Amino acid sequence: MEGRYVLCLFVVLFHIHCAQCYSSGAPWYTCITMFPVHNDVQQQPALSSPFQVIADQTSYFPGTILQLKINSTMSGRTFKGFQMRARPVNGDTEQVVGQFVNASTNVSRTLDCLGDVQNVVTNRDATSKEEVTLTWMMSESNFGNIEFVVTFVEDFNTFWTEVTTQITVIGVADELNAEIVSTEFNDINWDSCGSGKGCFLYPRLCSGSNCYTGLTYQITNESLRFEMFGPQLGYIAVGFSEDKLLGYDEMISCTGDGDILSIQRGYSTDDAFFERQYKNGITNIQVSIQDDKLYCSFTRPVSMNIFNEGHTTQTMVDLTQSYYIMLAWGDVFDGTDVLRQYKELPPITDEMVDLSAREIVRGSSMPWETKIHGTYNTRNMLSDINMRNQ
Ligand SMILES: *[C@@H]1O[C@H](CO)[C@@H](O)[C@H](O)[C@H]1NC(C)=O
Ligand SMILES: *[C@@H]1O[C@H](CO)[C@@H](O)[C@H](O)[C@H]1NC(C)=O
Ligand SMILES: *[C@@H]1O[C@H](CO)[C@@H](O)[C@H](O)[C@H]1NC(C)=O
Ligand SMILES: *[C@@H]1O[C@H](CO)[C@@H](O)[C@H](O)[C@H]1NC(C)=O
Repeated sequence: MEGRYVLCLFVVLFHIHCAQCYSSGAPWYTCITMFPVHNDVQQQPALSSPFQVIADQTSYFPGTILQLKINSTMSGRTFKGFQMRARPVNGDTEQVVGQFVNASTNVSRTLDCLGDVQNVVTNRDATSKEEVTLTWMMSESNFGNIEFVVTFVEDFNTFWTEVTTQITVIGVADELNAEIVSTEFNDINWDSCGSGKGCFLYPRLCSGSNCYTGLTYQITNESLRFEMFGPQLGYIAVGFSEDKLLGYDEMISCTGDGDILSIQRGYSTDDAFFERQYKNGITNIQVSIQDDKLYCSFTRPVSMNIFNEGHTTQTMVDLTQSYYIMLAWGDVFDGTDVLRQYKELPPITDEMVDLSAREIVRGSSMPWETKIHGTYNTRNMLSDINMRNQ
């Protein structure tokens, strides 16, 4: 029964989500992932892409202007959708660097991502394109060698991600270091739940390693140390929410399925998707796969800002305040660290939690109204989104 509701929820939500697949370009919450979520469709291998990106120079100085062309390598082959940004090749590869100039045309439009302007470009409509030319300007910062990374959508069922071309920096690189994800994992000590640290244990009667999923938290100085595990490979995420509804919450997710282990921080959207933002500030990261389950621990500053929808404003998420805590898990798209929608309705704590209290807290899967909200009453859900946007 439960499974059927979850399935319904996702079918309806996928439908809404795909209303904007590529008809007017990528939505605002794909700045870093640049992954078109077209139901369950997997990306094609990047090396098989019949489309390419070509730059007029192979090296840059800070402030350089480059002319870029994306086109087909085979005549007659066209793409309907695309998305492109530049990122550092080494170090903090989440960074979106430089900006597209004069890219608001009849075929392309820009997105203002993560506090900068016009730093991602996408298609404006779903017409078939043979080539698009773009102008891009590097900022004055030196990010070391960079690469342009492009997503091409040929049609709903066929797309390529991570099509790249590299540009070498001239001069000394000043790379931003990324926090290393360590695979060394210190086993979680569940015995200190309720005394040495706070714990959210799910379902109700479990006590730690026998739980389906669990989270521990401990505040020290200006940071919070978290440990968590989920029921499967793919991802496990913790969210901090001011209400018991889906969406508009900071989520920190650890991913691991095969060799790609990562930690991500972002915003959850109404329709159970995750937006990815910069995670700068999260440190001491450990991700490990044990017995087909994903374990993860990290330290988060007590206060962090997060960009709101559209990325023009930010909200401070201060974990000295009380929040509902949510745990969510699911699969990643094969060969990527891109999160799919939640696999099951996420458990959320019964009450708002004081994260400095060393208590054991319990919860249940998201309340019935949330399901009705998403499953049967699409019109209401959409008007709710509109209300929240105002
Ligand atoms: C794409 O552009 C490159 C570089 O200008 C050109 O050599 C190639 O022929 C173009 N592809 C097609 C199919 O025209
Ligand atoms: C952008 O367009 C303006 C107005 O047409 C032009 O003056 C400017 O040189 C263009 N910038 C670039 C970098 O091409
Ligand atoms: C976009 O505008 C250019 C120049 O105005 C025109 O040549 C081109 O056909 C237009 N492309 C589309 C897809 O409408
Ligand atoms: C907390 O801060 C104190 C004083 O700055 C320091 O001695 C201590 O090691 C810190 N504790 C942790 C767990 O970082």
